[in-house]
Amino acid sequence: TKGLSTRRSFIRRMWGLAGAIASLELLWAGSGFLRAGKSMESDARKRLVTAGKVADFRPGDVFPFRNGQFYLVRYSNGGFLAVSLKCSHLGCSVIWDESKQSFNCPCHASSFDKQGMVVNPPAPRPLDVYPVVIEGGMVKVDTHQPMKRKAFDPSQITFA
Ligand code: FES
Repeated sequence: TKGLSTRRSFIRRMWGLAGAIASLELLWAGSGFLRAGKSMESDARKRLVTAGKVADFRPGDVFPFRNGQFYLVRYSNGGFLAVSLKCSHLGCSVIWDESKQSFNCPCHASSFDKQGMVVNPPAPRPLDVYPVVIEGGMVKVDTHQPMKRKAFDPSQITFA
């Protein structure tokens, strides 16, 4: 009988252990769920860069946002376009030349016009753009994913 009771208490202990492991797993899964929710939220917040007030951007000018990896262009008609800083050739940072009204790449001399269209190769396609959102008088740029394009289209411009 001693052997039997030892085995019983062993089985009871095993059940206890299994229960503890199951609860730990549940806790872990639950906290993972919370962690995922939190990081998704902060990702969404992180990728939306607030450029400034609509009124701060004079029509006709180009504003660099080097940390956000884009130039915010405000056209004379008041519309906004956020063009990627990265050259579509091999990814060097393009530089805005006010006097020539073009984005120039220092690496292999590609250049792009104010809409980001190729003026000089070897760049194979226009500069990518980022979606612009205007909320409560503020210009925000969604830097999550640059959008590739073949040509300029007025629908790419956002108005306040
Ligand atoms: Fe810009 Fe080559 S990376 S021209």
